[in-house]
Amino acid sequence: MDSVTVRVPAKVNLQLAVGPLRDDGYHDLVNVFHAVSIHDHVTAVAADSFSVRVVGEEADQVPDGPDNLAIRAARALAARADRPVAARLTIRKSIPVAGGMAGGSADAAGALVACNDLWKLGLPREDLLDIAADIGSDVPFALFGGTAVGTGRGELLTAVPTGGRFHWVFALAEGGLSTPAVYARCDRLREARGERPAPPQESKALMAALRDGDADALGAELVNDLQEAAVALRPSLAATLDAGRERGALGAIVSGSGPSCAFLVAGESKADDLARALTGSAVCRAAVTAYGPVQGALAGSGGHPVGIT
Ligand code: C5P
Repeated sequence: MDSVTVRVPAKVNLQLAVGPLRDDGYHDLVNVFHAVSIHDHVTAVAADSFSVRVVGEEADQVPDGPDNLAIRAARALAARADRPVAARLTIRKSIPVAGGMAGGSADAAGALVACNDLWKLGLPREDLLDIAADIGSDVPFALFGGTAVGTGRGELLTAVPTGGRFHWVFALAEGGLSTPAVYARCDRLREARGERPAPPQESKALMAALRDGDADALGAELVNDLQEAAVALRPSLAATLDAGRERGALGAIVSGSGPSCAFLVAGESKADDLARALTGSAVCRAAVTAYGPVQGALAGSGGHPVGIT
């Protein structure tokens, strides 16, 4: 086996409830992750040293040095091997960069699964999830996929049953937003209002909508505590959200820390219509359709990666 390719999904947060700032600089979350059908592909090839090459959309905006999350993940995995191992990684990007859709986390998850197969380490799913959590709060979910609620800083996952497929349109923005900057703005906005955030709670109504496959109900229950901060940092997002709502979206939300905006719609043809309408407007750089939930990177492991040559 000379090369392994793994497909990894983007995510949108259906509920992102942010608690108070912790002493370690993170926030306790109730984070309902939903994996959607926008994928990066990570290929690992055996090599004498670690390197990464990024190709595809916005490739020039992804770090290709030691800050690259996929390389960090591959190195962390290599430290668990009983012999020297390394890999040349190629990341084919489709997930927006710094877009609030966990593209970097997805690439780290893809690198873990690809290298685990390439180096024949046979590390179990629990070990990969542990390494993933050390790389970033959203990396375990990119392995896990489907729909899941993340607690702690988002890394402690429990699968959420869903009763069907949901259709989405994502309005992609020019340039990204920094996740730490969005969290910090959220804290400052709360402070200025004298607000003391309560411990985050799972939304029962959102869970019921997911279980029932009820897109109307889900649209009404989408909530993102980071949205106000993302819009404060990028005021044009208010018009983007309005544009989707005015064109009949069942729900409109900033994805994670933004600036991508997610619109839930009633079906595939509605998604095509909305994506076409948004693409022709001035409120976003591009609009793409997707559906969820989809499988995470781990679905490709255990001898069935997307491509082995
Ligand atoms: O875990 P990760 O490195 O992806 O987090 C990036 C940044 O997002 C953190 O440094 C922190 O500022 C913010 N964050 C947070 N609370 C979380 C997750 C992330 O404040 N639960």
